[in-house]
Amino acid sequence: MKKQLNLLYFSPTGTTEKIVKAAGGKISDNAKEYNITLPVSRESMLSFTKDDLVIVGVPVYSGRIPAIIEDYLKNISGDNTLAVLVAVYGNREYDDALLELKDIFVSKGFIPIAAAAFLGEHSFTDKLAGGRPDNDDIKTAENFGLDVKNKLDKISSISDIKPLFVKGNFPYRERKPGSPMTPSTSNECVSCGVCASACPTSAIDFDDFSKIKEDKCITCCSCVKRCPTGAKSVQTEGFKKASAWLIENFSAVRKEPEIFIQ
Ligand SMILES: Cc1cc2nc3c(=O)[nH]c(=O)nc-3n(C[C@H](O)[C@H](O)[C@H](O)COP(=O)(O)O)c2cc1C
Ligand code: SF4
Ligand code: SF4
Repeated sequence: MKKQLNLLYFSPTGTTEKIVKAAGGKISDNAKEYNITLPVSRESMLSFTKDDLVIVGVPVYSGRIPAIIEDYLKNISGDNTLAVLVAVYGNREYDDALLELKDIFVSKGFIPIAAAAFLGEHSFTDKLAGGRPDNDDIKTAENFGLDVKNKLDKISSISDIKPLFVKGNFPYRERKPGSPMTPSTSNECVSCGVCASACPTSAIDFDDFSKIKEDKCITCCSCVKRCPTGAKSVQTEGFKKASAWLIENFSAVRKEPEIFIQ
């Protein structure tokens, strides 16, 4: 089956983007790209047709899809559009994120033909999945792309496609409101503006880069990881406790990607 490939992803620290591009690169070199990380990119609504194939990639936040993009994803429409679903997580667990992603896209007129959970360096600490996706992960993502391409070649009618199984449970893992975990800014700041330009929620003030709206910040850590001088860091007790718990319980064992394809 011939389809127009589309890459759709939300990726504050860039790991999800790398996986989606590695897989997509083995399917087509003519993909349309929809990076929905910045608020401006989520202003227009997307719809896809039966002639499209969409690879959708999201990071896992608290075992779920990020709440900030839930409404946006629920407004995307398909029309018997084939979809490949990707969740990228930081070596704790992906819990129900892939199932939630599948449920949303099925309800919007998409037909999932494959799905995968990949690993990316944890946004909070490089002690979990540090440096990932690494070369092995990228190779696995490329092979995943090749498998999707082969599957696509074998489909002659959408009525042949069986429902796709992915891991996860419903009701989904509860999103518990935690204590604020907003970054602070040290006097190493050189006012370059990189953090504000990359913030997916426009939480950072463009006139004073040390001012961050607590109610808007989702602790994605894009500003922390992108700041060229290391001026941004999260210093709250809640963040320190969460990071320590993650390191103690989930840093020792390297988890590997999981692929769901029939
Ligand atoms: C608020 C928040 C919650 C997260 N929750 C989880 C989680 O439940 N399980 C996990 O393994 N990783 C979790 N992570 C880590 C991210 O899923 C992981 O670092 C991912 O690679 C980030 O994707 P990105 O680079 O595309 O932003 C969380 C990260 C953030 C910022
Ligand atoms: S990226 Fe870092 S140095 Fe640049 S404005 Fe933000 S905090 Fe300051
Ligand atoms: S201010 Fe908050 S939401 Fe914005 S980039 Fe930094 S951590 Fe992410």
